[in-house]
Amino acid sequence: MPIDDDLIRRVRDASDIVEIVSEYVSLKKRGRVNWFGLSPFVDEKTPSFSVHEERQIFHDFSSGEGGNVFTFLMKMEGITFPEAVRRLADRAGIKVEEKRGPGAGETDEIYRANELAAKFYRHHLVEGAGADSIAAREYLERRGISREIAEKFRLGLAPAEWDSLLKLARRRKHRDHVLVKAGLVRRSEKTGGHYDWFRGRLMFPIFNAGGRVVGFGGRIMEEDAENPQPKYINTPETPVYHKGRLLYGLAQARGAIRQQGAGVFVEGYTDVLAMHEAGFDHAVAGLGTALTSEQAALVKRFAKRAVLLYDADAAGNIAANRGADVLAGSGLDVRIALLPPGEDPDSLLKSEGPDAMQAALVGAMPLVDFKLDYFRRRGALETPQGRSEAARAIIDTLIRIEDEITRQLALHDAAEKLGVEEKLLARELAREKRKSSGRARAVREEEKAPATGDEKMLRDLLRVLVHHPERRGDVFSFLRSGELGDHRLRPVFETIEAAHIEGREIREADLYDRFAEQDHLVRLIGSTLNQAPPDDAEFVEAVLAGAPDVLRMRAIEHELAEIRERLQKGESGPDDLRRRQQLIGERQAIKNRRARLTGPT
Ligand code: UTP
Ligand code: MN
Repeated sequence: MPIDDDLIRRVRDASDIVEIVSEYVSLKKRGRVNWFGLSPFVDEKTPSFSVHEERQIFHDFSSGEGGNVFTFLMKMEGITFPEAVRRLADRAGIKVEEKRGPGAGETDEIYRANELAAKFYRHHLVEGAGADSIAAREYLERRGISREIAEKFRLGLAPAEWDSLLKLARRRKHRDHVLVKAGLVRRSEKTGGHYDWFRGRLMFPIFNAGGRVVGFGGRIMEEDAENPQPKYINTPETPVYHKGRLLYGLAQARGAIRQQGAGVFVEGYTDVLAMHEAGFDHAVAGLGTALTSEQAALVKRFAKRAVLLYDADAAGNIAANRGADVLAGSGLDVRIALLPPGEDPDSLLKSEGPDAMQAALVGAMPLVDFKLDYFRRRGALETPQGRSEAARAIIDTLIRIEDEITRQLALHDAAEKLGVEEKLLARELAREKRKSSGRARAVREEEKAPATGDEKMLRDLLRVLVHHPERRGDVFSFLRSGELGDHRLRPVFETIEAAHIEGREIREADLYDRFAEQDHLVRLIGSTLNQAPPDDAEFVEAVLAGAPDVLRMRAIEHELAEIRERLQKGESGPDDLRRRQQLIGERQAIKNRRARLTGPT
């Protein structure tokens, strides 16, 4: 962790979760310490989102998510843990210093290196007096990219040299291996030397939702027939750059997306620039890959609607592919706007102007209508086979419409246009729904699946450890976290055990800090600590009475398996058989005792 633990606690103490959450959710007090509101993570009509003032945690009963003030901000703003800490520290007027030591603060250094690179590239574009800078400025002018837009998007120019950024970064005490991790610099396998990854390219910084530079796209400005290069090169995946979780232009577009109630998805960097240039400043783009549900979620934080603006040649792709359905599946109301064949937003705005663009956006069709229209135009609805193909594509969309009424209306409409009975389509839809919820359940179960047979016991123990700290001594008298094998809760137990041994206080909110960057653990801890029934005194006694046996059984099974393996390989010694008898006897004794305790089941 790049930031000191003590400081994290200080920042958390200074940041009241009720106050922070209230900036996003309208909360009502219920009882002495509980606040309730509508979940900001799912669409809902009855409040299932709760904030516990005393414990300084939140729990969202509809999505099962839980956490503290930092993880709340991470989810709401799509930022990392250190960013969340920094933001709340700023708010509380606390100064954040980096923790020193090997590997410490590397993520932060990556951010700083990206920021340095952005400034360096920008300077070279704006102030550079050399031929390359002049050519780049001419290029922007030729493409109609104004100074305002270039500034808003912080466009830059990477010098056509092997190590100009590298040299600067070294002077600023950046370490080579971190620059490599940031994707700014490469290491040559042959010589072991380092060189700049982006050279002689127009640079498009990519920002995360928090507005920090996390990567770049770099475009060549001139084709070289002798030495052909890819038009764009991009930052590779780094600790802060995940192309499926970022949207180009979101940092600049978020305000407009909120105002317009919609985000417009275009395909390329330059399309985003052209759109903003023309006043359509709610435009964003993916980063050269198919759109993901994470990208949908980014937009959904600000608006309910997404307009996909594509070239008419791409219509077939949209109709047949799941890309648009992925967005719809995230609860966005997805519309499709088509541009004349062969046009992209950039070219349309140049040739026809903003009015033509406005017309295209206004004419955006709901995804279901769009698909129907597409199949109809192709004459597919005239044959039974075509109708069934179309029905399938449409069910893919219908199934993702969350709003019941909207879905019913769309279903009715689709049945009519497809010329199939509504009942038939509804039945098919229901069947697909069962299948996919079955799949979703299977995935969820798998996620939950006990790594060992004693998942429930470990979760119960965790509740005791966290909510009844006075019983920690009892728990750690029979539990060694180190013996939990590769169970996914093991690091959580280890953290609590270490605190116990060192006599440090550790609370639920601390656990969320510690594992803030492991989403699945935060979720697991949250759902474990907030599940019913309440962990009252009776519960605690029952867990403490039962857990040692369960753990012992687990150890016995483990040892028996080892012996069995030696027997099978013919590597067993005389002691093995004796030990095996002993273990089987102990196992039986535990079973008998438990059967007496719990009665027949
Ligand atoms: P385009 O070729 O349409 O790019 O690719 P563009 O941004 O409109 O660029 P101009 O107008 O020709 O200058 C669409 C997107 O695909 C990705 C980029 O994200 C680009 O914006 N791409 C394309 C790459 O990542 N690498 C490439 O070589 C080409
Ligand atoms: Mn283009």
